[in-house]
Amino acid sequence: MPDEAQKRKVAVITGATGGLGVELCREFSKGGFEVVGLYLRNDAAAEELQNELGAGVLLLKQDITADGDWKGLEELLEERSGSDFTIVANASAQFTPKPLHLLKPAEYEQLYSVNVIGAVRLLGKLLPVMIRNKGGRFVSVLSSAMEPPAKGFAAYAAAKSALRSLTRSISLEYGDRRIRSFSVSPGFMKTPLTDRWSDHLTASLVSDGAQEPSYVARRIRELADDPDTGLKGEDYPV
Ligand SMILES: NC(=O)c1ccc[n+]([C@@H]2O[C@H](COP(=O)([O-])OP(=O)(O)OC[C@H]3O[C@@H](n4cnc5c(N)ncnc54)[C@H](OP(=O)(O)O)[C@@H]3O)[C@@H](O)[C@H]2O)c1
Repeated sequence: MPDEAQKRKVAVITGATGGLGVELCREFSKGGFEVVGLYLRNDAAAEELQNELGAGVLLLKQDITADGDWKGLEELLEERSGSDFTIVANASAQFTPKPLHLLKPAEYEQLYSVNVIGAVRLLGKLLPVMIRNKGGRFVSVLSSAMEPPAKGFAAYAAAKSALRSLTRSISLEYGDRRIRSFSVSPGFMKTPLTDRWSDHLTASLVSDGAQEPSYVARRIRELADDPDTGLKGEDYPV
Protein backbone atom coordinates (compact mmCIF):
# COMPACT_ATOMS: atom_id res chain seq x y z
CA MET A 1 0.00 0.00 0.00
CA PRO A 2 1.40 3.47 -0.86
CA ASP A 3 2.35 5.61 2.13
CA GLU A 4 0.34 8.69 3.13
CA ALA A 5 2.38 11.14 1.04
CA GLN A 6 1.93 9.08 -2.15
CA LYS A 7 -1.81 8.48 -1.84
CA ARG A 8 -4.26 10.43 -3.93
CA LYS A 9 -5.97 13.00 -1.65
CA VAL A 10 -9.75 13.18 -2.02
CA ALA A 11 -11.93 15.72 -0.19
CA VAL A 12 -15.65 14.97 0.06
CA ILE A 13 -17.31 18.31 0.81
CA THR A 14 -21.01 18.66 1.62
CA GLY A 15 -22.89 21.87 0.88
CA ALA A 16 -20.58 22.46 -2.07
CA THR A 17 -22.85 25.01 -3.77
CA GLY A 18 -23.27 27.24 -0.70
CA GLY A 19 -21.33 30.36 0.27
CA LEU A 20 -18.62 28.55 2.23
CA GLY A 21 -18.89 25.33 0.21
CA VAL A 22 -17.86 26.94 -3.09
CA GLU A 23 -14.78 28.42 -1.39
CA LEU A 24 -13.96 25.06 0.21
CA CYS A 25 -14.08 23.38 -3.21
CA ARG A 26 -11.79 26.05 -4.68
CA GLU A 27 -9.37 25.88 -1.75
CA PHE A 28 -9.11 22.08 -1.56
CA SER A 29 -8.78 21.87 -5.34
CA LYS A 30 -5.96 24.43 -5.24
CA GLY A 31 -4.39 22.43 -2.40
CA GLY A 32 -4.01 19.34 -4.59
CA PHE A 33 -7.11 17.43 -3.50
CA GLU A 34 -9.52 15.79 -5.87
CA VAL A 35 -12.81 17.31 -4.77
CA VAL A 36 -16.17 15.59 -4.58
CA GLY A 37 -18.83 18.17 -3.79
CA LEU A 38 -22.34 17.21 -2.67
CA TYR A 39 -25.27 19.60 -2.97
CA LEU A 40 -29.05 19.55 -2.71
CA ARG A 41 -30.69 21.49 -5.54
CA ASN A 42 -28.67 24.42 -6.90
CA ASP A 43 -27.74 22.99 -10.33
CA ALA A 44 -26.75 26.42 -11.69
CA ALA A 45 -24.14 26.95 -8.95
CA ALA A 46 -22.88 23.38 -9.40
CA GLU A 47 -22.47 23.84 -13.15
CA GLU A 48 -20.65 27.13 -12.69
CA LEU A 49 -18.26 25.57 -10.18
CA GLN A 50 -17.70 22.54 -12.39
CA ASN A 51 -16.82 24.82 -15.32
CA GLU A 52 -14.49 26.87 -13.17
CA LEU A 53 -12.61 23.99 -11.53
CA GLY A 54 -12.71 21.43 -14.35
CA ALA A 55 -11.77 17.78 -14.13
CA GLY A 56 -10.40 17.82 -10.58
CA VAL A 57 -13.88 18.34 -9.19
CA LEU A 58 -16.95 16.14 -9.28
CA LEU A 59 -20.26 17.70 -8.24
CA LEU A 60 -22.94 15.25 -7.14
CA LYS A 61 -26.56 16.15 -6.52
CA GLN A 62 -27.23 14.13 -3.41
CA ASP A 63 -29.59 14.82 -0.54
CA ILE A 64 -27.42 13.81 2.39
CA THR A 65 -30.46 13.14 4.56
CA ALA A 66 -31.69 10.46 2.14
CA ASP A 67 -31.44 6.82 3.03
CA GLY A 68 -30.19 4.14 0.64
CA ASP A 69 -27.61 4.11 -2.12
CA TRP A 70 -25.79 7.25 -3.09
CA LYS A 71 -24.91 5.98 -6.54
CA GLY A 72 -22.44 8.67 -7.63
CA LEU A 73 -20.48 8.59 -4.41
CA GLU A 74 -20.47 4.82 -4.16
CA GLU A 75 -19.11 4.45 -7.71
CA LEU A 76 -16.40 6.95 -6.88
CA LEU A 77 -15.50 5.11 -3.68
CA GLU A 78 -15.03 1.92 -5.66
CA GLU A 79 -12.75 3.63 -8.17
CA ARG A 80 -10.78 5.53 -5.54
CA SER A 81 -10.87 3.00 -2.72
CA GLY A 82 -7.19 3.39 -1.79
CA SER A 83 -7.25 7.19 -1.53
CA ASP A 84 -6.61 9.37 1.49
CA PHE A 85 -10.10 10.72 2.24
CA THR A 86 -11.09 13.92 4.00
CA ILE A 87 -14.75 14.58 4.80
CA VAL A 88 -15.79 18.20 5.25
CA ALA A 89 -19.27 18.17 6.84
CA ASN A 90 -20.24 21.68 5.81
CA ALA A 91 -23.90 21.44 4.74
CA SER A 92 -26.61 22.97 6.87
CA ALA A 93 -30.30 23.54 6.31
CA GLN A 94 -31.35 27.15 5.89
CA PHE A 95 -33.08 28.75 8.86
CA THR A 96 -34.07 32.14 10.22
CA PRO A 97 -33.15 32.85 13.84
CA LYS A 98 -36.21 33.31 16.04
CA PRO A 99 -37.14 33.20 19.72
CA LEU A 100 -37.24 29.73 21.18
CA HIS A 101 -40.98 29.86 21.97
CA LEU A 102 -41.70 30.36 18.25
CA LEU A 103 -39.53 27.47 17.06
CA LYS A 104 -41.41 24.43 15.78
CA PRO A 105 -40.15 20.88 16.35
CA ALA A 106 -39.84 20.52 12.56
CA GLU A 107 -37.23 23.29 12.52
CA TYR A 108 -35.11 21.40 15.07
CA GLU A 109 -35.59 18.23 13.06
CA GLN A 110 -34.53 19.77 9.77
CA LEU A 111 -31.34 21.28 11.18
CA TYR A 112 -30.49 18.06 13.00
CA SER A 113 -31.25 16.01 9.93
CA VAL A 114 -28.85 17.88 7.61
CA ASN A 115 -26.09 18.74 10.11
CA VAL A 116 -25.96 15.51 12.08
CA ILE A 117 -27.74 12.69 10.25
CA GLY A 118 -26.29 13.90 6.94
CA ALA A 119 -22.80 13.60 8.42
CA VAL A 120 -23.68 10.22 9.93
CA ARG A 121 -24.84 8.89 6.55
CA LEU A 122 -21.66 10.09 4.88
CA LEU A 123 -19.57 8.52 7.62
CA GLY A 124 -21.45 5.27 7.11
CA LYS A 125 -20.08 5.18 3.57
CA LEU A 126 -16.61 6.55 4.16
CA LEU A 127 -15.53 5.47 7.63
CA PRO A 128 -15.16 1.79 6.67
CA VAL A 129 -12.93 2.89 3.78
CA MET A 130 -10.85 5.09 6.09
CA ILE A 131 -10.50 2.26 8.61
CA ARG A 132 -9.37 -0.10 5.84
CA ASN A 133 -6.93 2.50 4.53
CA LYS A 134 -5.64 3.27 8.03
CA GLY A 135 -6.16 7.02 7.80
CA GLY A 136 -8.41 9.90 6.92
CA ARG A 137 -9.93 13.07 8.27
CA PHE A 138 -13.36 14.26 9.39
CA VAL A 139 -13.89 18.00 9.62
CA SER A 140 -17.18 19.51 10.77
CA VAL A 141 -18.25 23.11 10.34
CA LEU A 142 -19.84 24.45 13.52
CA SER A 143 -20.44 28.09 14.44
CA SER A 144 -19.43 30.79 16.90
CA ALA A 145 -23.19 31.13 17.53
CA MET A 146 -23.21 27.66 19.14
CA GLU A 147 -21.42 28.09 22.47
CA PRO A 148 -22.88 29.97 24.20
CA PRO A 149 -25.93 29.77 21.94
CA ALA A 150 -26.76 33.17 20.45
CA LYS A 151 -30.32 34.35 21.08
CA GLY A 152 -32.61 33.00 18.38
CA PHE A 153 -30.24 30.13 17.53
CA ALA A 154 -31.60 27.43 19.86
CA ALA A 155 -32.40 24.86 17.16
CA TYR A 156 -29.22 25.58 15.20
CA ALA A 157 -27.01 25.48 18.32
CA ALA A 158 -28.58 22.20 19.42
CA ALA A 159 -27.80 20.61 16.05
CA LYS A 160 -24.26 21.97 15.97
CA SER A 161 -23.63 20.78 19.54
CA ALA A 162 -24.61 17.27 18.48
CA LEU A 163 -22.26 17.54 15.51
CA ARG A 164 -19.51 18.70 17.86
CA SER A 165 -20.08 15.63 20.01
CA LEU A 166 -20.01 13.36 16.96
CA THR A 167 -16.73 14.94 15.87
CA ARG A 168 -15.15 14.20 19.25
CA SER A 169 -16.49 10.64 19.28
CA ILE A 170 -14.82 9.91 15.94
CA SER A 171 -11.50 11.10 17.27
CA LEU A 172 -11.82 9.11 20.50
CA GLU A 173 -12.93 5.90 18.79
CA TYR A 174 -10.71 5.96 15.69
CA GLY A 175 -7.75 8.19 16.59
CA ASP A 176 -5.58 5.14 17.18
CA ARG A 177 -6.32 4.10 13.56
CA ARG A 178 -4.91 7.41 12.31
CA ILE A 179 -8.31 8.90 11.58
CA ARG A 180 -8.24 12.52 12.66
CA SER A 181 -11.34 14.52 13.50
CA PHE A 182 -11.83 18.18 14.36
CA SER A 183 -14.32 21.01 14.01
CA VAL A 184 -14.07 24.65 13.06
CA SER A 185 -16.30 27.44 14.36
CA PRO A 186 -16.53 30.41 12.02
CA GLY A 187 -18.19 33.71 12.85
CA PHE A 188 -20.78 35.45 10.70
CA MET A 189 -20.26 35.21 6.91
CA LYS A 190 -22.32 36.75 4.12
CA THR A 191 -23.64 33.72 2.22
CA PRO A 192 -26.95 32.55 0.72
CA LEU A 193 -27.81 31.33 4.25
CA THR A 194 -27.53 34.75 5.86
CA ASP A 195 -28.52 36.84 2.81
CA ARG A 196 -32.12 35.90 3.60
CA TRP A 197 -31.95 37.44 7.06
CA SER A 198 -33.17 41.01 7.65
CA ASP A 199 -30.63 43.86 7.82
CA HIS A 200 -31.79 44.52 11.37
CA LEU A 201 -31.06 40.94 12.44
CA THR A 202 -27.71 40.89 10.65
CA ALA A 203 -26.65 44.18 12.27
CA SER A 204 -27.51 42.78 15.69
CA LEU A 205 -25.30 39.74 15.08
CA VAL A 206 -22.28 41.34 13.48
CA SER A 207 -20.43 43.63 15.81
CA ASP A 208 -16.91 43.29 14.45
CA GLY A 209 -17.50 42.66 10.73
CA ALA A 210 -18.27 39.61 8.66
CA GLN A 211 -15.70 36.93 7.90
CA GLU A 212 -14.76 36.14 4.33
CA PRO A 213 -15.78 32.57 3.37
CA SER A 214 -12.53 32.33 1.35
CA TYR A 215 -10.48 33.00 4.52
CA VAL A 216 -12.46 30.40 6.50
CA ALA A 217 -12.02 27.85 3.69
CA ARG A 218 -8.27 28.45 3.61
CA ARG A 219 -7.98 27.93 7.39
CA ILE A 220 -9.96 24.69 7.12
CA ARG A 221 -7.70 23.37 4.36
CA GLU A 222 -4.57 24.38 6.30
CA LEU A 223 -5.85 22.60 9.41
CA ALA A 224 -6.73 19.51 7.37
CA ASP A 225 -3.20 19.45 5.96
CA ASP A 226 -1.57 19.83 9.39
CA PRO A 227 -0.74 16.37 10.77
CA ASP A 228 -0.99 17.69 14.35
CA THR A 229 -4.66 18.70 14.16
CA GLY A 230 -7.62 16.49 14.94
CA LEU A 231 -5.83 14.12 17.26
CA LYS A 232 -8.25 14.93 20.09
CA GLY A 233 -11.40 16.12 18.32
CA GLU A 234 -10.45 19.76 18.87
CA ASP A 235 -12.61 22.73 17.91
CA TYR A 236 -10.87 25.63 16.17
CA PRO A 237 -12.48 29.08 16.20
CA VAL A 238 -11.70 30.71 12.83
N1 LIG B 1 -22.99 31.90 7.00
C1 LIG B 1 -22.62 32.07 8.26
O1 LIG B 1 -22.67 33.18 8.84
C2 LIG B 1 -22.09 30.89 9.04
C3 LIG B 1 -21.44 31.15 10.26
C4 LIG B 1 -20.93 30.08 10.98
C5 LIG B 1 -21.05 28.79 10.51
N2 LIG B 1 -21.71 28.58 9.31
C6 LIG B 1 -21.80 27.20 8.84
O2 LIG B 1 -21.08 27.11 7.63
C7 LIG B 1 -21.64 26.06 6.82
C8 LIG B 1 -21.93 26.60 5.42
O3 LIG B 1 -22.88 27.64 5.55
P1 LIG B 1 -23.24 28.62 4.37
O4 LIG B 1 -23.48 29.94 5.01
O5 LIG B 1 -22.27 28.45 3.27
O6 LIG B 1 -24.67 28.01 3.95
P2 LIG B 1 -25.43 28.03 2.52
O7 LIG B 1 -24.85 29.07 1.65
O8 LIG B 1 -26.89 28.08 2.85
O9 LIG B 1 -25.07 26.60 1.90
C9 LIG B 1 -25.66 25.42 2.41
C10 LIG B 1 -25.26 24.28 1.51
O10 LIG B 1 -25.81 23.06 2.04
C11 LIG B 1 -26.45 22.35 0.99
N3 LIG B 1 -27.49 21.50 1.57
C12 LIG B 1 -28.53 21.87 2.37
N4 LIG B 1 -29.28 20.80 2.68
C13 LIG B 1 -28.72 19.73 2.06
C14 LIG B 1 -29.05 18.35 1.95
N5 LIG B 1 -30.11 17.83 2.57
N6 LIG B 1 -28.25 17.55 1.20
C15 LIG B 1 -27.17 18.04 0.56
N7 LIG B 1 -26.79 19.34 0.62
C16 LIG B 1 -27.57 20.18 1.35
C17 LIG B 1 -26.98 23.43 0.07
O11 LIG B 1 -27.24 22.89 -1.25
P3 LIG B 1 -28.08 23.77 -2.36
O12 LIG B 1 -27.22 25.00 -2.62
O13 LIG B 1 -28.11 22.87 -3.53
O14 LIG B 1 -29.39 24.09 -1.74
C18 LIG B 1 -25.78 24.39 0.08
O15 LIG B 1 -24.79 23.89 -0.80
C19 LIG B 1 -22.89 25.58 7.56
O16 LIG B 1 -22.59 24.44 8.30
C20 LIG B 1 -23.21 26.74 8.49
O17 LIG B 1 -23.91 26.31 9.63
C21 LIG B 1 -22.23 29.59 8.56
